[in-house]
Amino acid sequence: SRNIRLAVIPGDGIGTEVVAEGLKVLEAVGAKIDTTHYDLGATRYNATGETLTDETLQELRGYDAILLGAIGDPSVPPGILERDLLLRLRFELDHYVNLRPVKLFPGVETPLADTRPEDIDMIVVREGTESLYAGAGGVLRRGTPHEVATQDSLNTAFGVERVIRYAFAKAAERPRKKLTLVHKTNVLAYAGDLWMRTLNRVAADFPDVTTEYQHVDAASMFFVNQPERFDVIVTDNLFGDIITDIGAAIAGGIGLAASGNINPDRTAPSMFEPVHGSAPDIAGQGKADPTATILSVAMMLDHLGLTEEAARVEQAVADDIVERLAGWAGRTTHEIGDDITARVAGGA
Ligand code: IPM
Ligand code: MN
Repeated sequence: SRNIRLAVIPGDGIGTEVVAEGLKVLEAVGAKIDTTHYDLGATRYNATGETLTDETLQELRGYDAILLGAIGDPSVPPGILERDLLLRLRFELDHYVNLRPVKLFPGVETPLADTRPEDIDMIVVREGTESLYAGAGGVLRRGTPHEVATQDSLNTAFGVERVIRYAFAKAAERPRKKLTLVHKTNVLAYAGDLWMRTLNRVAADFPDVTTEYQHVDAASMFFVNQPERFDVIVTDNLFGDIITDIGAAIAGGIGLAASGNINPDRTAPSMFEPVHGSAPDIAGQGKADPTATILSVAMMLDHLGLTEEAARVEQAVADDIVERLAGWAGRTTHEIGDDITARVAGGA
C-alpha cells in the first residue's frame, strides 16, 4: 500500500518547536508516512501578503491528514491569520467535528481538590464550521457613537444534525454512554431550539445512550466542581471553544490539550493541532511543552487507522507524564520530545 501523505503546517511561534517534536515521535512509531512542509503563517504573510491561496488550499486537499502547530503572531493584526488561515482551513476542509479530549493523566496535577484521573475523562465534540464563527453579521456607522455591530450565529439543520450524530456514535462506543448537550437554550431561542430538537430526534437512533442537557454557564461550573458528570459533550463552536480551555485547565494545562479537526466523511483531510496557540512570549526558548502536539499526533494516527501506533504514542506520553512529578522542571521542548520518542522507539 502507498505511504500516508501528511501535510505539515508548523505555523508561528512555538508552533515550529512543538511540531518538530511531534514529527520525531511520528518517525519513531515506524508508520509509512511522507511529510511535506507548508510555511503558512505570519512569516509568509509578512513577506507576501498571503494567508492561504486557493492553489495551496487545493493542494492540501490531496493529503491524508494535516498536522498544524499554531497560528498567530504579534506582527500581524489580530484575527487575520486566525480567520483567513486557521478557520478557513477548518471551514473549507469541512472539519465539522472539533474533537477535544479532556482527560486527566495519572501523575498530572489538577487545580481541583480531591480529583482523581477517573473523575476527568471526557470528550468534547465541538462543532467546527458554524455558529458565531461563520462570520455572519455586519457593521453600520463604524467609528461613530451610533455604531451598530451585529454578529449572527449560523446554525443549520444539516450542520447541527451531523455533529450530534457523530457525538452519539462516540458516546455509544464508551463505557458510560452518556451524552451532554451544552448550549444556552434559555436565551438563544432559535439556535437552542434547533439543537435541542435535533438531540431528541437523533436520540431515538441511539437507545443505549443517556442524554442530558446543561446550559453553558452551569456546565462551566460543573467542569470545576463536578467534572465526573461528563462523558461526551456536544456543543456549538463558540461554547466549545470556551469550555475546552476550562477543560485544559482542569486536566493539567494547555501544554497537554490535544485536538483533531475532523472531517468524518473523509471528503477532505482532517487536521490535528494542539489546543494552545503560538505563545510568542516564550517562542524560541525551548520552553514549550510539545506533549499536546504529540497527543495530537496520536489522535491523527488513530484517525488514519493506525490504532496500535496511536496507542503506543499515548502510552509513551502517559509513562513520561508519570515521571514528571520528579523531573519536569528542568526539561526543554527537545528533551521532552526525545524522552517520549525514546519510549515509543523502545516500545517500553
Ligand atoms: C482554538 C483557538 C481558535 C478558535 C482561534 C485561534 C481562532 O482559540 O483552536 O480554540 O477560536 O477556534
Ligand atoms: Mn480556543
